Amino acid sequence: MAEEARELAQRRVSRRRFMIMGINVAGAGTALLIAAPIVGSVLSPVFAKRKTPWVMVADVSRVPIGVPTAYVVNLPINEGWSVPPVPRTVYVVKLNLNGSVEMLTLSNVCTHMQCDVHWDIGLQEFLCPCHGGLYSIDGTNIGGPPPWPLFRYEHKLVDSTLYVRNVLYEP
Ligand code: FES
Repeated sequence: MAEEARELAQRRVSRRRFMIMGINVAGAGTALLIAAPIVGSVLSPVFAKRKTPWVMVADVSRVPIGVPTAYVVNLPINEGWSVPPVPRTVYVVKLNLNGSVEMLTLSNVCTHMQCDVHWDIGLQEFLCPCHGGLYSIDGTNIGGPPPWPLFRYEHKLVDSTLYVRNVLYEP
């Protein structure tokens, strides 16, 4: 009789434990259901495949051949979270190469220590004021300390409208 009562008590305890476990599991499941969208929305920019958007520069049909022309463009810097676009200078250079016009979109950032270069009309070269770096019209480093040519922005033309995006490459 006493043994039956003990077994019954053990069974009650195990039922109680089972109920507690069930409540814990249900609580954990509910917490997961609530937390998953929040965690997902916070972390999704980190794992999202980033697309670098095209930004319109201007109608460049009137940019003369052989005269680098500067445009300031607000370029998104492509961080996962929302960061305001940053103004960047893009030099549009049209060159006549054996009868066909090639267009370049040069960064104005010196490859030595990142000073801003500018087109010097007198020299007919890009000049970096910081240490006297020189670049030819196509961005080739031709004098002073710059170790590389000016980087180029990826660009595309839609009719005569130029678009660039914040993707730089070495020529
Ligand atoms: S930063 Fe341009 S030459 Fe040094």
